[in-house]
Amino acid sequence: MVPNISDSTLVIIPTYNEAENLPLIVDRLQQAQPTAHVLVVDDGSPDGTGDIADKLAINDHAGRIHVMHRTQKNGLGAAYIAGFRWGLEQDYQVLVEMDADGSHAPEELHRLLHAVDGGADLAIGSRYVPGGTTVNWPMSRQLISRVGNLYVRLALGTRIRDLTGGFRAYRREALAALDLDAVESRGYGFQVDLGWRLLRAGRKLVEVPITFTERAIGESKMSTAIVAEAMGKVFTWGREERLRQLREFRKSRRGASPSAGPTAP
Ligand code: GDD
Ligand code: MN
Repeated sequence: MVPNISDSTLVIIPTYNEAENLPLIVDRLQQAQPTAHVLVVDDGSPDGTGDIADKLAINDHAGRIHVMHRTQKNGLGAAYIAGFRWGLEQDYQVLVEMDADGSHAPEELHRLLHAVDGGADLAIGSRYVPGGTTVNWPMSRQLISRVGNLYVRLALGTRIRDLTGGFRAYRREALAALDLDAVESRGYGFQVDLGWRLLRAGRKLVEVPITFTERAIGESKMSTAIVAEAMGKVFTWGREERLRQLREFRKSRRGASPSAGPTAP
């Protein structure tokens, strides 16, 4: 693809009240992938995360840290879409999603980049393939995640085991071909939304094992509204997919009927 995939990689980090976490994660990322660029997308965090991001950018003399300030907390999905648009304009070849709170280990990012280098359009850091795991995640969250992923697999008829996961690397062309304006998911269902769009577009999705470690500092922004949005959308997509399959089946039967019928003796 490119001589060193990391040079043309943009790691997008959405933040809402991650003042303590942000410097730690950016430092780890720079240790692990020194030539990758970073885009912090902050939704006007009241704890001053945006200012901290600006300081990190000013002090980074190589100019690899970028910051986008948005005025309202509009959800993870909207923040990522804004980040993707900027990254595509700037011509990055790989766009990465990574949480600010340390749940996604920058030290494992090379696995995702390797998968994209090897032909994946989307590499998903997966907790639920052999070698993947979660650490310190409360039982309640594990349950929501497991049941959520099972529901996604059954509703959409996919074999991907962690379509809700948020540590990912997208190949530029795959993302650029999507109509990002059409993506409505605001919360964490956004992850399923983009994965499902790529699956429908016939793109290659690869799961790479990761260790997801529960944050040590700050709080999750997960809410029942976020879960409800995701469940509702997956239900709708699943129903559309079944109807589409039914139409295809009927069409193929109609097309096949003249020759498929019994021949006269
Ligand atoms: N800009 C912005 N706006 N950032 C946000 C918002 C928002 O409205 N909501 C959350 N974030 C940021 C957080 O600051 C953090 O960096 C990241 O998004 C993940 O948020 P968490 O609140 O820590 O998520 P989680 O740990 O509960 O959920 C994780 O697991 C989910 C299920 O697998 C994430 O990885 C999700 O992406 C994933 O879907
Ligand atoms: Mn988290």
